[in-house]
Amino acid sequence: MQAKVFISRDLPQNGISALEQAGLKIDVYPGELPPSRTELLKRVKGCDALLTLLSERVDDELLTAAGPQLKVIANFAVGYDNIDLVACSKRGIAVSNTPGVLTEATADHAMMLLLATARRVLEGDRLVRQGQWRGWAPLQLLGVEVSGQTLGIIGMGRIGYALAKRAKAFGMTVLYHNRSRRLKAETELSVRYVDNLHNLLSQSDFVSLHTPLTPETHHLIGQAELAVMKKSSVLINTARGPIIDEQALVEALKTATIWAAGLDVFEREPSLSAGLAELSNVTLAPHTGSATRQTREAMARLCATAIIAALKGEAAPNILNSEVFSS
Ligand code: GLV
Repeated sequence: MQAKVFISRDLPQNGISALEQAGLKIDVYPGELPPSRTELLKRVKGCDALLTLLSERVDDELLTAAGPQLKVIANFAVGYDNIDLVACSKRGIAVSNTPGVLTEATADHAMMLLLATARRVLEGDRLVRQGQWRGWAPLQLLGVEVSGQTLGIIGMGRIGYALAKRAKAFGMTVLYHNRSRRLKAETELSVRYVDNLHNLLSQSDFVSLHTPLTPETHHLIGQAELAVMKKSSVLINTARGPIIDEQALVEALKTATIWAAGLDVFEREPSLSAGLAELSNVTLAPHTGSATRQTREAMARLCATAIIAALKGEAAPNILNSEVFSS
């Protein structure tokens, strides 16, 4: 019988075509908005594979709704905090993500937010668009220098490393904090490890977050951490919203505890904490870190490859729980 795949949103066509060419029966939930939970639980029923996005909570309830034939879930993201990996492993369901292919795009996005925030690009854009610009002035929209400043990177994985490379090219000093030391980064990029998070925060002019969201990193940056940052500092987040206590950040931005922030991710997407959108010292992006055509096509290709291989019982690249193939 033809295996069935549910895809929870419209995707780049290359991924859908690859699955079709492999002879799979595809059900794509159309458009840009996620299915409601009820709709999702209905659509996954009887599927052999699911291609999910970070907005879909994959837990016991969903696995039960899908049924015992479900073999693989390909998550269209590098982060997989939306998935209960233990529950999937218990049922022998393989789970994949999309590492590697979005590293450069996301690091570009973090660097872009850093520069845009430092140089107040969106405030300038609004001034010009609204017809309120009266011409060049020496004290107009003064930002902060990037070159010669210190960037503190929290989480020195692939994306943290790629951001460090960019920051070095902009003449920055780079510190990093990570669960373990990254000697390759230290040697190749002359970045310096700081064991204590508060020490890193207090020494940095810019701080950028690149950790996965886990119970340990939930609200890693809260009121106490914002308080030790420099008053002139800028906080960048392209990782996951809940790593920052967003309400505490709004307060810190309002009271000039830190100077500014650049955010691509939010605590309760797509909603924003009260007061955030009214602040002029924050650059906001709609979770578009990996949003280049090339990267999204590469992500679609990886998901299709994982589904096709796993349905054949083969271990595909990027399976997070490959032990399911030996059970
Ligand atoms: C996007 O946020 C991802 O994890 O790929």
